[in-house]
Amino acid sequence: MKVSIIGGGGLVGSMAAFAFQCGGIASDLCLIDANQDMCQGQALDLLQGSSLTHDQRIHAGTMEDVATSDAVVVTAGLRRKPDESRLDLINRNVDLFLGLLDQMKAAGLKDSTYLVVVSNPVDILTYLAIKRGGLDWRRVIGLGTLLDTARFQSHLARRLKVPATQVRATILGEHGDSMVPVWSSATVAGLPMEQWPTFNAQLQREAFDETKTAGAALIKLKGGSGFAVGLSIRELVTSILLDSRKVLPVGTLQQGLYGLRDVVLSVPTVIGTGGAREQVELALSPKERMGLTNSARVLREIIDQVEARLGGQKSTEKPTPKPTPAPTGNGTPLVTTASNGKAIPRSAWQANKK
Ligand SMILES: NC(=O)c1ccc[n+]([C@@H]2O[C@H](COP(=O)([O-])OP(=O)(O)OC[C@H]3O[C@@H](n4cnc5c(N)ncnc54)[C@H](O)[C@@H]3O)[C@@H](O)[C@H]2O)c1
Repeated sequence: MKVSIIGGGGLVGSMAAFAFQCGGIASDLCLIDANQDMCQGQALDLLQGSSLTHDQRIHAGTMEDVATSDAVVVTAGLRRKPDESRLDLINRNVDLFLGLLDQMKAAGLKDSTYLVVVSNPVDILTYLAIKRGGLDWRRVIGLGTLLDTARFQSHLARRLKVPATQVRATILGEHGDSMVPVWSSATVAGLPMEQWPTFNAQLQREAFDETKTAGAALIKLKGGSGFAVGLSIRELVTSILLDSRKVLPVGTLQQGLYGLRDVVLSVPTVIGTGGAREQVELALSPKERMGLTNSARVLREIIDQVEARLGGQKSTEKPTPKPTPAPTGNGTPLVTTASNGKAIPRSAWQANKK
């Protein structure tokens, strides 16, 4: 499997490459960056550790490598300045990202290639890749709130004084200020978190605040996020390439679940061969549901501003394709969204098939 990272010379891209190297998932790891010296330096540094890790081809490449890649991860972008919100980056990063999309297409991006969007504002850029790039929504996946979820679990674990791998607590919605903590299903070792002896309202508030401000804190302290985002990218790409079918909070095009549509944000999503195989609708508390609706509203407003600014530059825009069953290894398509965007329970769908 070949994975190319556009932005591989930067902090996030190089950390993702290192996570891929340690995980040994990709057989060919290609770093692409406008800063060619930095890109070559990162690739050389990684290569020098390859005798201690896995047998992978690791190299600096060019856009031409996109044509032969199974997955392309986009981390190229302009960093958030201290105190700048992620969404304030929008105009600078949208133009950069749309330019990269054009370059990828010109280089021969295949329909079967998975595009993983990490650059911020990630939900908006993922939406644009699908809508303006005319790409298959199932194969264009934003990192969404996967990093926020990893941070949330880690911060909760530290405060609760339990091992981080035993905490399960998800963040959904926008990768940004309106992100939604899903307390109603949070657990420690499979048990309800709200009943855990060290859990209380103050801890709850502080752990979420720490999660929400985690990106800004790292920008102030060390210039940006690296290790945890690299691991989060690896989690997503591994689930795609190994068809692990993990349920991950990642950014996909919403088409009716939770009453949301025509926006990219994070809901629990089954990730495997074909990309986003299934978006899952769960019972949320009224507050959590309102939070998701609010995230969608915030993102929709930004999309409207972007679309208005971009105006007529609709080079490759295609209508959103209707949801189609994802390919499966066992011949059973998985669907949860109907052509009208309404959720179909799997059992009902299977009954229809019979
Ligand atoms: N989604 C998430 O959870 C998440 C988390 C952290 C950072 N990010 C985002 O990731 C992006 C990268 O962050 P970073 O800290 O690595 O920044 P960085 O400045 O270290 O790296 C960005 C890289 O992109 C390269 N680049 C810029 N324009 C390019 C182009 N046209 N073609 C090829 N390469 C180009 C730069 O040369 C640089 O090496 C930012 O948008 C940041 O906000 C997202």
